[in-house]
Amino acid sequence: MNHTWDALWTHVHLATLAPAAAGYGELRDAALAVRDGRIAWLGSMRELPAGAQAAIEHDGQGCWVTPGLIDCHTHIVYAGNRSDEFEARLQGVSYEEIARRGGGIRSTVRATRAATFETLLAASLPRVATLLAEGVTTLEIKSGYGLDLDTEARMLRVAREIGRAEPVRVRTTYLGAHAVPPEFAGRTDDYVTRVCEEVLPALAAEGLADAVDAFCETIGFTRAQVERVFDAARRLQLPVKLHAEQLSDQQGSQLVARHGGLSADHLEWLSPQGVQALAAAGTVAVLLPGAYYFLRETRLPPLQALRDAGVPMAVATDCNPGTSPMPSLLAAMNLACTLFRLTPQEALAGTTRHAAAALGLSGQLGTLEPGKVADFALWAIDRPADLSCALGFNPCVGVVNAGVPRAP
Ligand code: NIG
Ligand code: FE
Repeated sequence: MNHTWDALWTHVHLATLAPAAAGYGELRDAALAVRDGRIAWLGSMRELPAGAQAAIEHDGQGCWVTPGLIDCHTHIVYAGNRSDEFEARLQGVSYEEIARRGGGIRSTVRATRAATFETLLAASLPRVATLLAEGVTTLEIKSGYGLDLDTEARMLRVAREIGRAEPVRVRTTYLGAHAVPPEFAGRTDDYVTRVCEEVLPALAAEGLADAVDAFCETIGFTRAQVERVFDAARRLQLPVKLHAEQLSDQQGSQLVARHGGLSADHLEWLSPQGVQALAAAGTVAVLLPGAYYFLRETRLPPLQALRDAGVPMAVATDCNPGTSPMPSLLAAMNLACTLFRLTPQEALAGTTRHAAAALGLSGQLGTLEPGKVADFALWAIDRPADLSCALGFNPCVGVVNAGVPRAP
């Protein structure tokens, strides 16, 4: 066997999150080798093959290594500012009421339509940098603040540019059915037709969308409207996901499961039937405790039912200017534990293995296993639970993207 490696990390503790392993998949006093951007070998220091050679050797000095973190649900590309709505909500105005008054998503749409590519990119990069400093190596970015072809395409081009210019793998999602734009007020079905027949095909032709999402809600789109969007997506062979059961039970989870969707996201109002549908389809439940926290929701997603049914649970930031202005995946992990009572192990699986599944990338990412892409983060912590335990503290000391080390 050839043990010539591009790089070797020694004296590390691994949390592999490998599905076959128990718990975190802990491997203490271990080493990890990389070749051609992939994990070539991992095991305990004692088992390092005799005569193994690496072009570069990094002494991990007792750090913990986890898979690179994956933020599988963000709206991080946007312009404008909605702290005025934060103030209004503190005065008792609800998120739905703000949306009905033309604020909320529509307020960000106005600002984003007015922003150039360069302005949008410059506004988004500091938020992305905060995530990357926390060991994030893969980032999903949704459109949905343009709602017309030009602005949706601009948002997705900015997302692609972030993936080119920054050390992060970006997956883009077209979220045209996020809100009805003002030029279609009172004509939601016509807007859905525009989404299905013009915007989505044009974006797909340019290769700008890796997946398609929608907002199934009383202040969003009905199941029938979402189904039209999903049918259009599937005609273009794009996978679907859904903002489902955030503010009410619309049975969106059953719909996205029926379409073999990658994920159903939010889920505070998910019913037992919805849980069963997700379980049967293998659709990931993406938990977004940031939105729950900022909206001061009181209804929890049915966590024990999801666990009992074996539905994989991912955790993401939902980073957006309204309901989750929180570009911190470590914060989302802490909130998932404190507010949703996830275990720290579930929270870490939720930002690695299950987040990869929510993006359809399980084969390549999300665990430390030979053959997977060598995306990982190094942490100055005593135990993996430390990642979820603290709030507002970042113990990341190194990040590796496809075998290439960078400072956090
Ligand atoms: O995931 N629920 C709909 N979409 C976003 C909110 C977007 C916004 O308020 O700007 C969410 O919470
Ligand atoms: Fe969202």
